[in-house]
Amino acid sequence: MKELFKSNIDSIVPYEPGRPIEEIQRELGLNRVIKLASNENPLGPSPKAVRAMRQAIREMHLYPDGAAYYLKERLTKEFSLTPKQLVIGNGSNEIIELLARGFLVDGDQVISSEKTFLVYPLISQVCGATFVTVPMKGYSYDLAGIAAKINGRTKLIFIANPNNPTGTYVSFREVENFLAKVPERVLICFDEAYIDFADAKDFPNALNYIKAGMKNVISLRTFSKAQGLAGLRIGYGIVSEEISAYLDKVRQPFNVNRMAQIAACAALDDKTFRLKTKRLVSRGKKYLYEQLDKLGLEYVPSQANFVLIDVKLDAKKVFQEMLKEGVIVRAMTAYDLASHIRVTIGMREELEEFLRVLELVLKRLGKR
Ligand SMILES: Cc1ncc(COP(=O)(O)O)c(C=O)c1O
Repeated sequence: MKELFKSNIDSIVPYEPGRPIEEIQRELGLNRVIKLASNENPLGPSPKAVRAMRQAIREMHLYPDGAAYYLKERLTKEFSLTPKQLVIGNGSNEIIELLARGFLVDGDQVISSEKTFLVYPLISQVCGATFVTVPMKGYSYDLAGIAAKINGRTKLIFIANPNNPTGTYVSFREVENFLAKVPERVLICFDEAYIDFADAKDFPNALNYIKAGMKNVISLRTFSKAQGLAGLRIGYGIVSEEISAYLDKVRQPFNVNRMAQIAACAALDDKTFRLKTKRLVSRGKKYLYEQLDKLGLEYVPSQANFVLIDVKLDAKKVFQEMLKEGVIVRAMTAYDLASHIRVTIGMREELEEFLRVLELVLKRLGKR
């Protein structure tokens, strides 16, 4: 059997998602478990999306619209684009995959930063490409370093902005300098999954470059975060018309399910919910920073809905001990951050419980 396996795929270390609440409850016999591990929306799904889904239940015997006509129309209005500049995916993760499957051949080079979203190397490797990681400057992407790595085999560059798991961002100025150095034959994918939470004044928006006609620039967005629809799996890419038409040939005809399309349309109309989410995240971060300062713990200021914390101990141990107390966070060991945990901004009570348990666990492990 083993001889059937492709070595580039067989050598992959699978992506480890945040552990589900139900699994932890079962395993540890806990009644109450708080999950602050997957950067989900603590407020639940957009209420408008919930209402639209309730009404749509009776249509679920029908296949979805493979062209996602209404959703594209709705997004077109939102961003002043044409429907042909959009590609809709089963989560923005699927669009990462479509890009890799559509463009990469054996021996191509994909460049990104170290300590960034692990799906980029994983999918690049599946497609036979070499994934080049550029060291960070502090906790941030080094765009100049990435530009310096471009060679004749480079096809695709991934830039998570804000970045997961560090929460840092690349500024408008950095992006302008970078774009001036990248040849047109190289695709630059700005993964803007967390853009709704970014509030830095010099935060760039890749959409503007696409609108200005830069055909090699791609922006990825998702409904999983600010709209609270992670379970439905729906995201989109804003791309040039040529790329959209090309990726249409790569994707499955019904890649995005009917319920997800309906919920996404409704969620786009739910400005109140988006605002509420943003406010909650922004206040939650402020509270968390204050409390972490009091505890004397180092963290990385974040433009996203999570915060990276240096616990100065084996993060896996801290994760395990916190789990026993019913709080799920993420140890960032797989990202080469052996003493860091990442915590999603939850409700105020959840953050209070997180802090209580973190302090308890750090004491237990002899840290304070
Ligand atoms: C940087 C980044 N991009 C994309 C995604 C995936 O989003 P989606 O749920 O749309 O597939 C995530 C999710 O955690 C992420 O952190």
